[in-house]
Amino acid sequence: MLNGKKVLFSGMQATGNLTLGNYLGALKNWVGLCDEYECFYSVVDMHSITVRQDPATLRKRARTLLMIYIAAGIDPEKNCLYYQSHVSGHAELAWILNCFTYMGELNRMTQFKDKSAKHADNINAGLFTYPVLMAADILLYQADVVPVGIDQMQHLELTRDIAQRFNGIYGDVFTIPEAYIGKVGAKIMSLQDPSRKMSKSDENPNASIYLMDDPDTIIRKCKRAVTDSEGQILYREEQPGIRNLIDIYSACTGKTPEEVVKEFDGKGYGDFKLAVGESVVSVLKPLQDRFADLEKNKDYIDQIIKEKDSQVEHMQELMIQRVDRVELLLKQLAKVLANNTNYATLISGPSYNQTKLKFIQLSKVEEHKLLVVVVVEGNIIRNSFVTIDEELSDEELLNLNILLNSSLNGLTIEEINLGVIAKMKEQAGSHRRVVDLVLNEVSEVIRS
Ligand code: AMP
Ligand code: TRP
Repeated sequence: MLNGKKVLFSGMQATGNLTLGNYLGALKNWVGLCDEYECFYSVVDMHSITVRQDPATLRKRARTLLMIYIAAGIDPEKNCLYYQSHVSGHAELAWILNCFTYMGELNRMTQFKDKSAKHADNINAGLFTYPVLMAADILLYQADVVPVGIDQMQHLELTRDIAQRFNGIYGDVFTIPEAYIGKVGAKIMSLQDPSRKMSKSDENPNASIYLMDDPDTIIRKCKRAVTDSEGQILYREEQPGIRNLIDIYSACTGKTPEEVVKEFDGKGYGDFKLAVGESVVSVLKPLQDRFADLEKNKDYIDQIIKEKDSQVEHMQELMIQRVDRVELLLKQLAKVLANNTNYATLISGPSYNQTKLKFIQLSKVEEHKLLVVVVVEGNIIRNSFVTIDEELSDEELLNLNILLNSSLNGLTIEEINLGVIAKMKEQAGSHRRVVDLVLNEVSEVIRS
């Protein structure tokens, strides 16, 4: 829960031209959810680099996607719209979750199989662990609901499995997210091959309606849609082409498939296809007009992107403020303890005083780098890296963990505060997180 509302997370890749499938299966359902949920919609640009990208093109597409979010009606004032690569927590958590995900699970992912067949010359580890980054996106915000198209269900199931596995080991750390699938439009099929989903990357341009297609093109594509020779407009498996057109028409008009079948009873395919085309135009035209306005209004978008920093800050404040403070405490503690000095804290403040520490685990990732996993009351976890000046032996590390857990576990922040001295203020110093550095590199590549 955040601000008394359930949390919702979703994202789209900044690759390819968005299709009607993306709109009906995802975007359209996102609009308006902010009344009920605290919504985070991310441009998942780090997912995009699992296939080779030209940085300038990717940057442009990421911006276009952000504008499409807004043009589709997602109000940037009421929803958190941001680039995934700008929030380091996604990659940090993804690493942790990688260690709780089995190769066998990832091997079963159909999207991995499809993509590796398509990009046989570049089957990289990122493509393989793609679903883990997606799990991190979702779990980082303790999201309750995730609106996606049916094709992403397998990834969402995996997210739930990972979260449950983690919770099984460390207690109720993560919220287990639920999928939110729109009633209609959850799977829009190709207009040329109704056994395959409509996809951004289809080589046949007639197979997909793109969000920016002009009205004539949309009508033409609908007229050319592959159907059958049954001559009846019925909603059934045996007529996948017609069924898909009924789905599209339903999603665009708000009518149920049964109502559509009734409406076109006795009519020919030609009339029906034209009506489908017109219904699509009626939904996409306003989006296109808003997009054109936004394009003219460069400053507005620049401002939104610029404001992202404070937005993200705000978001972090909302989401992990409490945890961050505990994390800060632990970073400092770890540093001080690593230096064999008395542990102490700078943390205070009435709202955190009663926060109870549940579990702390330090582990060595590199000579001078420790991974800190923190669980506090309220079942929140925070993972971070801390750089230390001197290398710890395994024995010292073990002792440190025992000391930390035996002395801090179960204590409230207030209790800890009372027991320690703030002398470490000067010792804590400033250290940049390793992950931040790496991510900055990545976002440099994306932005350059
Ligand atoms: P992608 O194009 O794979 O980045 O997908 C972005 C979002 O659009 C995801 O939530 C997908 O489930 C959804 N989506 C993509 N293609 C379709 C489709 N043909 N029908 C319905 N939803 C889709
Ligand atoms: N994998 C999703 C897709 O291809 C995009 C995505 C990334 C996503 N992270 C997410 C969707 C988190 C929902 C929640 O469509």
